[in-house]
Amino acid sequence: DKNKQDQEKLAAAKAAVQLVNDNDVVGLGTGSTATFAIKELAKRIQAGLKIKAAASSVKTEELALSLGIPILKLETLGSIDISIDGADEFTESLNLIKGGGGALFREKIIASLSKNSIIITDSSKKVDRLGAFTVPVEVVPLALQYVLNQLAALNGKAVLRKKDEMTFISDNGNYIVDVDFGLLDKPEKLALALNQIDGLLAHGLFIGLTSSVIMAEGDKILVFE
Ligand code: A5P
Repeated sequence: DKNKQDQEKLAAAKAAVQLVNDNDVVGLGTGSTATFAIKELAKRIQAGLKIKAAASSVKTEELALSLGIPILKLETLGSIDISIDGADEFTESLNLIKGGGGALFREKIIASLSKNSIIITDSSKKVDRLGAFTVPVEVVPLALQYVLNQLAALNGKAVLRKKDEMTFISDNGNYIVDVDFGLLDKPEKLALALNQIDGLLAHGLFIGLTSSVIMAEGDKILVFE
C-alpha cells in the first residue's frame, strides 16, 4: 500500500542523503521518491551542510529553491559529485527505466555527468526483466510521425502521452511517447537502436549510468552495486 511504499521511499532517501559530503555538487532527481531525498537534503543544509545542486526538472528546481537549496545552471557543470534520483524499474544489473514523470532527458544528462549516480526506490521497482513499464521517449514535435514509424519498425506499440486530455509537453517543449516493447531480452541493444532515431531526443532506458541502487524493503536497506 501507499503508506508502506512511502516509508520505503523515505528510508531509501535518508540512506542516500547520508552519502552527500560538504562542497559536493548534487544532482537532484524528479518524482515522488526524489522529492523525499530533496526534503532530507534540505534538512541537512539547515543543519550546516554546504552543497550546491543541479535540478533535473522545473518542478524539482522550484521545490529545491523553496527549501533553500542553491541551484546551479546545468549547462555550466562539467561534472556532478553525486546524484540521487528515483526509477520506474530497475534490475540487479543496474539497468533502469525512467521517465514516468517525463523528465528523462535532464535526468539522463545529470546521471551521465555524475561521478556517483545513486537510484533510490521502494521494493516495488525491482524487476527481473525491464519492460512491464513502458519505455518513455522524448520526441521533438516536428519529427513525431517519423519517430512513430521507426518505433513501429522496432515492434514498439507507441502511445502519445496525454495529461488532462491535452498532449503532455516536456520541460524542453517536446512530446513524450510511451512505448511498449514487451519484456526486454536485450535492453542494451534496444537502447542503441533508439539512439539511432533522429528526432528522438532521449529515451528512458538508462544502461550503465547507475553506480548503485538503494532499495528499502520493509525495515531493511538493500544496496545493489
Ligand atoms: C521522472 O521522469 C522519472 O524518471 C522518475 O524518476 C520516476 O518516474 C520515478 O518516479 P517516482 O519516484 O514518483 O516513482
